Amino acid sequence: MDSLIIQGGSCLKGTIKISGAKNSALPIMAASLLSEEPISLGNLPHLADITMMNQLLMNMGARVEFADDHRRLQLHTAEVYNEGIMLAPLAHTMRASFLVLGPLLARFGYARLPLPGGCAIGQRPVDMHLRALSALGVSFELGDAEVVGRVDDSLRGAQVSFEEPTVGGTENILMAAVLAYGETCIDNAAREPEVVDLAQCLQAMGARIEGAGTSTITVEGVERLGACDYDLMPDRIETGTYLVAAATTGGSVRLENARADTIQVVMRHLEQAGAELSTGEGWVALDMGGRTPRAVDIETAPYPGFPTDMQAQFTAMNAIADGSSRIVERVFENRFIHTKDLCRMGADITVSGNEARLRGGATLRGATVEANDLRASASLVIAGLVAEGETTIEHIYHIDRGYEWIEEKLRRLGAEIKRCPNQSQG
Ligand code: EPZ
Repeated sequence: MDSLIIQGGSCLKGTIKISGAKNSALPIMAASLLSEEPISLGNLPHLADITMMNQLLMNMGARVEFADDHRRLQLHTAEVYNEGIMLAPLAHTMRASFLVLGPLLARFGYARLPLPGGCAIGQRPVDMHLRALSALGVSFELGDAEVVGRVDDSLRGAQVSFEEPTVGGTENILMAAVLAYGETCIDNAAREPEVVDLAQCLQAMGARIEGAGTSTITVEGVERLGACDYDLMPDRIETGTYLVAAATTGGSVRLENARADTIQVVMRHLEQAGAELSTGEGWVALDMGGRTPRAVDIETAPYPGFPTDMQAQFTAMNAIADGSSRIVERVFENRFIHTKDLCRMGADITVSGNEARLRGGATLRGATVEANDLRASASLVIAGLVAEGETTIEHIYHIDRGYEWIEEKLRRLGAEIKRCPNQSQG
């Protein structure tokens, strides 16, 4: 596995372009299974997870064509056959593969998938997905490692209510409901912008959806969906990550192809930290003016609350910021993985259950650390940028899952960073 080597001490300055959203691309690629006509996606990011989803769809017989230097992807699923077990080798390594469940049930009335395991940040069960789909007329058989779903006679619209908002659960039920008979009402739906992006793409394919982005989504099923040409939204977590990296290093950056409306809470926390933010049509800028940020308290929540995917990045900033802070993680049960390595680098963090307390003002020292979760890795990159000396981040596969060309983008902002292919790779 490759490593990243960072010489700390750079103050990030300059302009970079934000890539398309990973967490929009994955459900929308799964949605290609809902139509026998091709869908064409623009603003596609080059990420390991996208490659994995492409491979998974091709394993089922889909045709995948790239254009515009891999920025545009055309997916043809007319010849897809439903051998769900084909997913096994890949599905265990990428949870998002479970997002083909709803589309396969809607298209074929049958799906057989490996159950996605837990991961570093938590157990990540799928019980809410299965209960919601059962309400539409699906019977499930659960094995130790796989689930088989069968539509009893036909998918019928229903009233579905989630005990708590689930992004993937909302997306799976949405993708089944668009081809069900009658109306489906989803209550306590996830409101994330990526759910809205999926809904807009489904509407472009001919689906009838109201209320995406609110807690109540209504779907009127249709006979079939057609082709569409759709551009993915910019990645709001990548946007937030570079803003926090700039604030942590006292820098000043401008992010093109960004959408400020999807990161309002993140921007408010950065203003509390002392950053000056400005926005325009398709761009967001942050200026820290060389100052050290003030520590800010964080409590994660489903959208439009503070995004759990930004918690680790702010933890790194708080480690060096002025003042103490309290971070409460309310979405996942084990999302303080990054604190161990941050403490090895000199941070003063005490974790108790779902709460971390930080004493700021630390001087971080470079170290050799390991990436084992996407956002925890981003946190370690930010720490390396501001640490004294050299930081080596090993096993950066996780970073490549969610951050397109991270070393090029950071180098363009003045960071001293390079990628080292692991010589031992066979
Ligand atoms: C999506 O995961 C994102 N992934 C995650 O981003 C993100 O952290 C998460 O939403 C929350 O915003 C993608 O979109 C591909 P959930 P998802 O279902 O859908 C519990 C990243 O770094 N739950 O909203 O899996 C669950 O355990 C990734 O890009 C159940 O209990 O998240 C969690 O505690 C990490 N039963 C909470 O709900 C279920 O059936 C929210 O999970 C489903 C979820």
